This record gives sequence, structure tokens and C-alpha cells, in this order.
Amino acid sequence: MPSSRRTPSPVIRITHWIGALAMLALIGSGWQIYNASPILPFEFPAWATLGGWLGGGIAWHFAAMWVLMAAGIVYLAYGVLSGHFLRDLRPTGPRAVGRDLALALRFRLSHAAGHYNAVQRLLYTGVLTVALLTVASGLSIWKPVQLGWLTWLFGGYDVARRIHFAMMTLIVAFLALHIALALLVPSTLFGMVFGRRASASPKTDVQEGTAR
Ligand code: HEM
Repeated sequence: MPSSRRTPSPVIRITHWIGALAMLALIGSGWQIYNASPILPFEFPAWATLGGWLGGGIAWHFAAMWVLMAAGIVYLAYGVLSGHFLRDLRPTGPRAVGRDLALALRFRLSHAAGHYNAVQRLLYTGVLTVALLTVASGLSIWKPVQLGWLTWLFGGYDVARRIHFAMMTLIVAFLALHIALALLVPSTLFGMVFGRRASASPKTDVQEGTAR
């Protein structure tokens, strides 16, 4: 369905931005909580943390968690029911990823809002899986008694805490790349904010979505 491939639908855009804000709050407050009892030989700088102290960090973390879960449930339900995931995010296989990666590294891969190449599809499905694992491991260390089966699935409380930290690290790495690419191709950012491209007719959007 070409029309829905040109720009992300309002549901995708609204849930993306609400989820992104919640994710940033979760990272900052998570770093605050981590600093109270670090598992690695370093702490996060105070300026990058949210909440001011352990109790404040926990309050922010839980508030943002509910926001992320609400936006995530709407996003996932819409993505499945509207066919968006199947149509636009379904991974395309290693050959297409290799081809698009080679084009991207030579700065020859075109990029249009709502039309995802093989590398984007892999990155987006990857980060969505990581986000689900982050939520699940977070729930398992929040309620290790009530959700004992989940904590057990993650290998126990201590392992679950390390998995939660590792998933956060993957999300931060994704974000660095994701934001850099969005700034490099600002028309996609415009499309994700306003639902259409800065200029260009719809026809141009589709043409630009194919690798040249
Ligand atoms: C806060 C800064 C962020 C910016 C500036 C940003 C920007 C963007 C832009 C411009 C797109 C559209 C890309 C395109 O059309 O080619 C996009 C899509 C996407 N972003 Fe972000 N994003 C941010 C945060 C996040 C976070 C925190 C996540 C998840 C951890 C995320 C996951 C995604 C996913 C999965 C898509 C594809 C959505 C779909 O079509 O279903 N983004 N983002």
C-alpha cells in the first residue's frame, strides 16, 4: 500500500514520540538508581541523571515505565492490526541487509520517511525486541517474588539486573546511531514529526525510497 509507506501514520508518530520521551526519562532515572548501588566500577555523571536522589530516580522510573508501556501497547497493537509491521518492518533477509549496508557505507542509500530499507528494518525490529526484554527484565527485578517465574526465566535476580543494564546499553547505542541518522537525513525527522516531508511530491517520496 504505497500511501502508508510514504509517511508514518499519526498513531505511529504519536506513540513514537511519547515512547521516546519516556525512554529518555527511563534512561536518566535508571542511571540515578544505578548510581546508588553500581554493579560496575563506574558511576554515571550527575548531570546525566534524573531525579536528584535514589527516591526521586525511582519515582521517575516508575512513572515513565507506565507511559512507555501504554504507548508501547498502542504502538504494538496498531502495528499488528494495521499491517504496518508486516508491510514496513518485516526483516528482508541477509542479502538485502548486505546490499543496503554496502550502499549506506558508500553514502549511496536513499532514505525516505515511512519507507524503511533492509538495515532500518533490522535495527527497528532489533530495538523493539530489546525494549520488550528491557521491560520484562525490569518487571522481574521490581517484583521478584510475585513474578518469581519471570525472575527465574532470566536466571535469577542478579542476572536479571545485569540483563536489564545490558539492554539499556544496547538502547543507548541504538539511540546514538538513530539520532545521528535522523539528523543526517532531516526530511525523515520532519516526516516523523509532521507526517509529511518538508518539500517534494508524494511521487518523489516513493522514488527516493528506492536504493539508487
Ligand atoms: C529521542 C530521539 C529520537 C529521534 C530524534 C528519533 C527519530 C526517528 C525518526 C526520524 C524516525 C523515522 C525514520 C524514517 O522514516 O526513516 C524514527 C522511527 C523509529 N524510531 Fe525513533 N527517534 C528517537 C527515539 C527513539 C527511541 C527511544 C526508540 C526506541 C527505543 C525509537 C525507535 C524507533 C522505531 C522502532 C522507528 C520505526 C517506527 C515505525 O515506523 O514503526 N526511536 N525515529
